[in-house]
Amino acid sequence: MSQSVPAPMRVIAVCNRKGGAGKTTTSVNLAAELAALGWRVLLLDLDSQGHCAVGLGVKVKAGEACVHALFTDAQARLIDAVRDTAFDNLALAAADQLFEHGTGIRDELRLARALADPALAARFDLVIVDTPPTLDLLLLNALSAAHWVLVPFVPHPLSFEGVRQLMRVLFKVMSNQNPDLKLLGFLPTMAADNIRQHRATTADVARQFGAPRVLPGIRSDIKLAEAFAVGKPVRAYAPGSRGAQDFAELASCLTQLLA
Ligand SMILES: Nc1ncnc2c1ncn2[C@@H]1O[C@H](COP(=O)(O)OP(=O)(O)OP(=O)(O)O)[C@@H](O)[C@H]1O
Ligand SMILES: [Mg+2]
Repeated sequence: MSQSVPAPMRVIAVCNRKGGAGKTTTSVNLAAELAALGWRVLLLDLDSQGHCAVGLGVKVKAGEACVHALFTDAQARLIDAVRDTAFDNLALAAADQLFEHGTGIRDELRLARALADPALAARFDLVIVDTPPTLDLLLLNALSAAHWVLVPFVPHPLSFEGVRQLMRVLFKVMSNQNPDLKLLGFLPTMAADNIRQHRATTADVARQFGAPRVLPGIRSDIKLAEAFAVGKPVRAYAPGSRGAQDFAELASCLTQLLA
C-alpha cells in the first residue's frame, strides 16, 4: 500500500449528466492506476449499461450478485457483489444489466448505508463509483455516499451547460443529504489542445468554478477505446500511450489531493 493512502475508506463518485463524457473510461482507468500505485480499490458500477465489467474483461453471469441488488432487495449486502479482477488490488462490484433505472427501493441513502459496512472498510482504501448519465435515484445515491465528486467533461460548449446543471444538483446534495461532499475536480476528456473550442470551454469552466479545480486532462487517444474492447485498462493494453500517460499523471495528481 502506498504511504499516501488515507484512512478510512474514501469514496469518489464520477459524475456528469451528459452521456459519453468519459465517465466510465475515467472510472476504469483511474481505478487501475491507483490500484497499481498500491491503493486497494473497489470499482462500483451503478450504470446498468454494465460497461465497467466490459472494461476490466469481467464476464457477469446470470444470477451472480450485482450492485443493483441493493435497490431490489432490502437485505442485500454490497460485499456479496464484490469480485476480484485480473488486476492486483482492483475489485469490481458489477452492474446488473437487467436493472431498470427508475425502479427499485426509493432510498437516497441506500448506498451510503451499504458502504458503511466494516467488512468493506477493512478490505478497501478507495471506492470509485461510476454513475449513469441521468439525474435519477442512483446518481443521488452516489452523491449522497461520496466524499468526493470527479466530473469528466468533453470540452465543447454543450458540455459546459451539462456541468452547470450537475453543479446545481451537487449543491443541493451538499446542503441536504451529504454536507461532507467535496468537489475533487473537473477533468477535460477527449481533449485536443489544438482545437480552439476545447481551450475556450476549459477556460470557461476554470473561470466559473476556479482554475485549481480543473485537473490535467485526458487527451483523445484511440488506445483508450481499443483497451476497452479487449477488456483491459489502458496501462495494461498500451503502456506508454498518450492515454496511459495521462491517466498516470491524473492518478499522481489525485493522490496528493486525496492525501
Ligand atoms: N480520451 C479518449 N480518447 C478517445 N476516446 C475516448 C476517450 N475517452 C472516452 N472515449 C470513448 O468515448 C466513448 C464514451 O466514453 P465513456 O463510455 O467513458 O463515456 P460515459 O460518460 O461513461 O458514457 P455514458 O454516459 O454512456 O455512460 C467510448 O467509446 C470511449 O471509448
Ligand atoms: Mg458510462
